[in-house]
Amino acid sequence: MTQDEMKIKAAEAALEYVVTGAIVGVGTGSTVNHFIDLLAGIKNKIEGAVSSSEASTQRMQAHGIKVYDLNDVGDIPVYIDGADESDHYLNLIKGGGGALTREKIIAGASKKFVCIADESKLVDVMGKFPLPVEVIPMARSFIARELVKLGGQPVWRENFITDNGNIILDVHNLEIMDAVKLENDINKLPGVVTVGIFANRPADVLILGTPNGARTVYSK
Ligand code: A5P
Repeated sequence: MTQDEMKIKAAEAALEYVVTGAIVGVGTGSTVNHFIDLLAGIKNKIEGAVSSSEASTQRMQAHGIKVYDLNDVGDIPVYIDGADESDHYLNLIKGGGGALTREKIIAGASKKFVCIADESKLVDVMGKFPLPVEVIPMARSFIARELVKLGGQPVWRENFITDNGNIILDVHNLEIMDAVKLENDINKLPGVVTVGIFANRPADVLILGTPNGARTVYSK
């Protein structure tokens, strides 16, 4: 089975978490794109969606799924999104697609966060995937120096601007042993908009696509 087929298995399993008659939170990325395509098949059973990126909004609207502004809805029962890495506590690295800030907002506004991924994303220690950090453009060099002090090697994601008009630094060479602490340490640097560690608000459920189908993982 290909990696893409495993992503589809995870996306299919996530459909069961969608609450009839409610708004569903929708993330960003190639796994979520499969979820959006499947969500189109049940679009008449949901009120609509809130979206974590312009790309996901466009894809949903092309399917005729109604996309609401987060300010126009209350608490969201379920948020479905992918990840770049997950540890066994369902702490995540996200932001490979650059949508981490809106993803973190919707995850925070949602009662349940269902993460979907192929099985390669589950790791013992996060950090092999470079950690994305969204930064206000004028703070780029300053934040890069601060990230070096924290033990990382930041690389500017050139020719990339987030949906919020900011830049991304991808931090290499981290071994994330205390995800909550690193999330808090990076978050408090002035000029950082969002760090792509989701540990203060981890996923509640991780659905992994495997060659044998979808496997559900709960926090250790
Ligand atoms: C988008 O900014 C990311 O957080 C994605 O959720 C993450 O990169 C996973 O993407 P794939 O499903 O394409 O691996």
